[in-house]
Amino acid sequence: MFKNKTAIITGAGQGIGYGIALALVKEGCNVVVSDINQATCDKAAQDFSGMGVRALGIKCDVSNKAEVDNLVAKTIENFGQLDILVNNAGIYPFKPFGQMIEADWDRVMDVNLKSIFLCSQASINAMKAGSKIINISSIAAFVGFEGLTHYCASKGGVSSFTRALALELAPKKININAVAPGAVDTPGATGSSSEEVKKQTVAAIPLGRMGLAEDIANAVVFLASEKADYIVGQTIIVDGGWTLR
Ligand SMILES: NC(=O)c1ccc[n+]([C@@H]2O[C@H](COP(=O)([O-])OP(=O)(O)OC[C@H]3O[C@@H](n4cnc5c(N)ncnc54)[C@H](O)[C@@H]3O)[C@@H](O)[C@H]2O)c1
Repeated sequence: MFKNKTAIITGAGQGIGYGIALALVKEGCNVVVSDINQATCDKAAQDFSGMGVRALGIKCDVSNKAEVDNLVAKTIENFGQLDILVNNAGIYPFKPFGQMIEADWDRVMDVNLKSIFLCSQASINAMKAGSKIINISSIAAFVGFEGLTHYCASKGGVSSFTRALALELAPKKININAVAPGAVDTPGATGSSSEEVKKQTVAAIPLGRMGLAEDIANAVVFLASEKADYIVGQTIIVDGGWTLR
């Protein structure tokens, strides 16, 4: 589906980002796998290199403009083009609102929201008509979660940003959309959860199971494809029904 195309996926060292990169690779896409740690990027790139595509790992802290600019410049240097940007990197550190300090708030906003401004702006000049940007939002954009006021605000921002930038990119025929996952089984989300907490999470999901990285990746692959050419500025919820109640 994506032969001769190149994608950047941020936060691709594990979890949903890794799953998205894998799904794009399976569709023949060349990938730049980016994460905050070089060894993690290299490991992911190595995993994908044997799968009939070109894969390159580039370290990038998405909250740092110089590193983001370098990520895009190196992608163009190595692949000559950028067709798909997946803004996936994100953090969700729980902190009751009363204990939250300014630095907690700023870090979540920088990694989850400012990153999307930085990565999108660095990428669009390199993108041709038909290119796609996909942001990973969250159901936290639509419902509240205790201990995650900063996170919920950042993800609400991601979906609002997506709508606004979509208007500016539509004349260039570049589509920007978002995917809002529900509870997805990843090292970040469930790595340290007890079986009891996992059971409670599953109980809130009408489909009766947590999401897999692949469930989110399937939506991303669709939005990155020509089949989504007429979808503009939307946030697609992929949550097994969680938000229906
Ligand atoms: N897992 C869920 O239940 C869930 C639900 C809704 C939304 N999401 C969103 O999906 C995305 C991925 O979540 P996940 O569960 O796979 O998380 P994860 O913690 O398992 O993986 C996130 C990856 O992002 C990287 N990362 C963190 N900070 C970074 C930075 N500053 N620059 C670059 N990379 C950085 C980490 O090193 C890690 O490899 C996030 O945006 C998250 O908010 C996750």
